[in-house]
Amino acid sequence: MKKVRIGVMGAYRGTSMINYCAIASNAEVVAICDKWQEGLDRQKEAHLDLNITFYNNFDEFIEHDMDAVVLANYANEHAPFAIKALKKGKHVYSECLPVQTIKEAVELIETIEETGLVYGYGENYCYMLAPYEMCRLYKEGKIGEFEYGECEYIHNCESIWPSITYGDKTHWRNNMYANFYCTHSIGPIIHITGLRPVKVVGFEGTKNERNLKVGNKSGSFGIEMITLENGGIIKSIHGGLYKNSIWYSVYGSKGRMESAREDAKNDAYSRIYINADEYSGQYSRIEPETYVPKADENVTQYFGHGGSDYYSIWNFVEKVLGNENADYIDIYEALDMFLPGMFAYRSVLAGGIPMDIPNLRNKDEREKWRNDTTCTDSRVAGDMLVPCCSKGNADIPDEVYEESYKKWRAEFEANEGYTKAAFSQGNVKKK
Ligand SMILES: NC(=O)c1ccc[n+]([C@@H]2O[C@H](COP(=O)([O-])OP(=O)(O)OC[C@H]3O[C@@H](n4cnc5c(N)ncnc54)[C@H](O)[C@@H]3O)[C@@H](O)[C@H]2O)c1
Repeated sequence: MKKVRIGVMGAYRGTSMINYCAIASNAEVVAICDKWQEGLDRQKEAHLDLNITFYNNFDEFIEHDMDAVVLANYANEHAPFAIKALKKGKHVYSECLPVQTIKEAVELIETIEETGLVYGYGENYCYMLAPYEMCRLYKEGKIGEFEYGECEYIHNCESIWPSITYGDKTHWRNNMYANFYCTHSIGPIIHITGLRPVKVVGFEGTKNERNLKVGNKSGSFGIEMITLENGGIIKSIHGGLYKNSIWYSVYGSKGRMESAREDAKNDAYSRIYINADEYSGQYSRIEPETYVPKADENVTQYFGHGGSDYYSIWNFVEKVLGNENADYIDIYEALDMFLPGMFAYRSVLAGGIPMDIPNLRNKDEREKWRNDTTCTDSRVAGDMLVPCCSKGNADIPDEVYEESYKKWRAEFEANEGYTKAAFSQGNVKKK
């Protein structure tokens, strides 16, 4: 079988995709790039048996003889590298998120259209057992037409903040707005329904002590109330409330499906409940069906996020190989998952008024956004800079970041390599 030759940028989260390639029958890793030398060194040690070339510079890396690149670099810097890679003839698999500004979104879409190459968005939460089963059942018509959905991705990162930001005060995680990292919650509902978001109202959790003491300037969580093209509504929440949650629920015209809540201690987000009628108006009194969808244990045991890390990249690679059944996430769907968060924050900044979500599939609509650089990153925004929190940027003393740096170094050195957080993102045994 032909293997897709992959280069991975980002030696930290990229571990998951590198490990995928190490065991996959349809892909191999041929190059790894990171400007962080220790990260590169760890990858070298871990993969002495593989023929991999290592780079610390993207412009040299992208010249390597390979078919596709995985972008697991900073979450707000994917688009410029994706565009460069596509222009060099490489397919692109992008980690979350797809773009930082809507200007980048227009440019990325147009580059993908011009090159005809595959762009796959790595929203792995769509491939978790329960939401993926919900997707299959929805397409079979199990609950009828979508009317309402709720989705939660709550991750209190206070204890791991030093190991995921390294005490770097410019790190994207310290400088994002609350609605930015929205696709783990919204993504699965978009993938299940296949519907386009058209309008959003945003809310922002207040700045709180947990965030400020680790150096994170954003509001503590983001909420998006999203209207879809069929009139259905999604309530999405994501961010750092105190207790974690991954949860999806969808109501249709003849039933409901949802995953288990983690506190139910019932296989957590892998279990699904289905409570659906044969036809609308039946009002049957049958017990809800519940089960954990069948899974390959080799995948769920060794790949992060309930095995979804594996299926997300597998589908991308299959698409590159020409498999027409590959269920990958293209750029239009990726933006359907991301733009609600971006426009929710515009709604927050405007005092809570609804915002229309552009449909960049339409070439005419792109003109209005082509030069819109609104974001929280001063290197990119120009005169369209917005604060990380609608109440203004917190003034965080340097000592907070210095302390965080010390904690990260101590943890990194004690583990002689990757921190616990990195392992949980893709620790795999080679077969
Ligand atoms: N889908 C998921 O479940 C999931 C989980 C964790 C992280 N992520 C995503 O993975 C990506 C990486 O996150 P992370 O937690 O590893 O931390 P990170 O963002 O700190 O790591 C990025 C890595 O890329 C390297 N890098 C950045 N810019 C570079 C450049 N110009 N040249 C060379 N190397 C460069 C850095 O040195 C670092 O090692 C983000 O997009 C994040 O959203 C996704």
